Amino acid sequence: MTKPLIDLRSDTVTRPTPGMLNAMFSAKVGDDVFDEDPTVKELEAKAAAIFGKEAALFCPSGTMTNQIGVRLLTEPQQEVICDKLSHIYYYEGGGIASNSGLSMRLVDGVRGKITPQQIDDNVNPPDNIHQPFTSLVSLENTSNKGGGSYYTFAEMKGLADMARKHKLKVHLDGARIFNAFAETGDNPLETGKLFDTISVCLSKGLGAPVGSLLLSTKENITKAKRIRKGFGGGMRQSGYLAAAGIYALDNHISRLKEDHSKAKEIAKCLATMSAVEEILPVDTNIIVFRLNEKYTTEHFLNYLSENNVKGILFGKQTVRMVTHLDFTDDMLTDLISVLKKY
Ligand SMILES: Cc1ncc(COP(=O)(O)O)c(C=O)c1O
Repeated sequence: MTKPLIDLRSDTVTRPTPGMLNAMFSAKVGDDVFDEDPTVKELEAKAAAIFGKEAALFCPSGTMTNQIGVRLLTEPQQEVICDKLSHIYYYEGGGIASNSGLSMRLVDGVRGKITPQQIDDNVNPPDNIHQPFTSLVSLENTSNKGGGSYYTFAEMKGLADMARKHKLKVHLDGARIFNAFAETGDNPLETGKLFDTISVCLSKGLGAPVGSLLLSTKENITKAKRIRKGFGGGMRQSGYLAAAGIYALDNHISRLKEDHSKAKEIAKCLATMSAVEEILPVDTNIIVFRLNEKYTTEHFLNYLSENNVKGILFGKQTVRMVTHLDFTDDMLTDLISVLKKY
C-alpha cells in the first residue's frame, strides 16, 4: 500500500477529520447573507466569547479578515505600522493599497516581532501634512515569515500601550494565535482587551477546511459586514463551514503542543545535517532553515518529493516546513529517516 504524502508545505493542507465531517454534515444552515444561518451565528458568538469581544464575523479567509480589519480602522491616505515580514504586507497581494488606500511603515523587527520603541520611532507627526497620518499598528502572532515566533501577553501589552499613547488603533493578525497561547499559556480574554480588531484563522493549525473570524465591537462588526459584502465575501449556507470551525475550536486547540514538539524533533534532525547551514529557533509549529551554498533548494526539495515529502521554498536557500493535524507520529519517523539519508 502506498503511504500518504507527508505534506509539510503549510498547516493549511489538512483535511477534515471524520468527527469534523460529521459535524459539517449535520449542521443546521440558512442563508447567512439574510442573517439566517444558526451555525454561523453560533460560531461567531463562540469565537467572540473566547476573546471577550462583543461580536465576530465569519469570513472565507484570513486575508479577508485582515483586510476588513485594516479597512475598518483606517481612512485612505493614512499609514499602518507593521513589521517588514507581516503577512498583511508580504502575502496579501498589495491589498492594503487597493482595498484601503494606505501606505505602510515597515519596521525592521526581529523574526516578525517589533518593540514599543519602534512604534514610538515610526509615528509620523500628526500635524505634518507632508507625511501620511499614522493611524494603525498591526501585530502578527505567531509570525509566519518570522518562523513561528510569538509575542507573550506582556509584549503585546507593551506594544498596545505604546500605540494607545499615540492614539493609534491596534489590529492583531492572530492567524495562529492559539499556537502562541499553547506556548505562553496567556489568556485570550486579556489578549482581547488589547486590540480593536482580531483576526483568527480556523483553517491553519486548527484544521478546518475554510474560514477565519474577525472579532471586535458590535458597532465595528456591523460595519465590517458591509465591507465584507463589498469584498464579495458574503456567504450563503456557510453553516456547513462554520460547523467545522466550531468543531475545531472545541477539539483542536488542546493538541497544538503536539505539533510544536514534532517541529522541534524535525529541527533536532536538521541540526545534524551537513546540508543545513542555519535553523531559526523553533518556537511553535513552523521550521525555517537555510541550506549551505553547496546545495540548492531545488535539489533538496526534489529529493524530498521523490521520497514522498513536501516542503516549501521560503526565500533564497531557505525552506519552510510546518507541522499540523495530519502529520502523524509515523510520518515523523519516516521524515527523519528521509532527512538523515540526504
Ligand atoms: C499570519 C497569517 N495571516 C494571515 C494569513 C491568511 O490566511 P488565508 O490563507 O486564509 O487568507 C496567513 C496564511 O497563511 C498567515 O500565515
